[in-house]
Amino acid sequence: MLVHIVADNQKKISELLALFGSQDRITSALLKDESSGPKECNALIVAVDLRNADNIAALKDVSAAFNDTPRKIFAIDQKVRLLAAQAYALGATHVLFRPVYQPSLLAALNGSRKSNLVSEDDHQGGARRAASEGAASLASMFAAVSIGQQVDAAEAKHAAGRIYDMIAEDGFSHWLETVRRHHEGTYQHCLLVTGTAAAFGLNLGLAKADMERLYSAAMFHDVGKAKIPLAILDKPGRLDDRERALIETHPAAGYDALKGTRGISSEILDAVRHHHEYLDGSGFCAADISDIVRILTISDIFAALIEDRRYKAAMSRASL
Ligand SMILES: [Fe+2]
Ligand SMILES: [Fe+2]
Repeated sequence: MLVHIVADNQKKISELLALFGSQDRITSALLKDESSGPKECNALIVAVDLRNADNIAALKDVSAAFNDTPRKIFAIDQKVRLLAAQAYALGATHVLFRPVYQPSLLAALNGSRKSNLVSEDDHQGGARRAASEGAASLASMFAAVSIGQQVDAAEAKHAAGRIYDMIAEDGFSHWLETVRRHHEGTYQHCLLVTGTAAAFGLNLGLAKADMERLYSAAMFHDVGKAKIPLAILDKPGRLDDRERALIETHPAAGYDALKGTRGISSEILDAVRHHHEYLDGSGFCAADISDIVRILTISDIFAALIEDRRYKAAMSRASL
């Protein structure tokens, strides 16, 4: 694979180079030294501070020069939705957050080569890597939805599959502990719901295909929250009527954002649209609520009860 790295300092280039094996052909340049003109490679990796207006102007030329490159992976400095949105506006196909972990990078570059290289870089613990990869995928998805772009459904399903693998290997408790320690807010919630749904499915003994349908629906279920201001999502106090009404638009907003996206089935759309319907069928015909929506809704409520939110303390699993 031919990969070109563009960064605004040598340290970032060195960090990224360390993630590749000897079989890859990697070239690199500092942004200020990057020459113009069309380039040919399989992937471009950009690690540049997107808060700097000069960098953004220079990156527009870089993006044009790599117009035909299929993968443009931006490694951004902070988990800030606006910076991710800026990366997408500059042509990113994937957005990762620094420090970049090898599994996330390889998943973005080429999923099929991932498993070999994961074992070479196994110092973080499987659950922590799966959680980082899941959070990065959620961040990419939320950033895409917030600026009206299509989500990368394959990447999100892959990340959800890794969460399932981790829970099957290490158990649900280890997953809860890892996610609660390293992630917060909406991404923590989505990681917990996906993990809860996977653990629920494992306990039910679901077949592999059904399991994939369930954990994928869980991964996508709250993507409509990308349209809700963070000030409301993370508000420490009670929501007023207007704020509550806005929050309640997220299932429909998620449905609208995902419909027509390749890899998003009508079943996933249904789960996203209806995951806040009452399970007793009030306001909806109970017979029409699919099994996936039922399990997802229970997982969603369970995760909400055990996670730390600014306006309430977490409940323990044992107290539920
Ligand atoms: Fe929701
Ligand atoms: Fe939720």
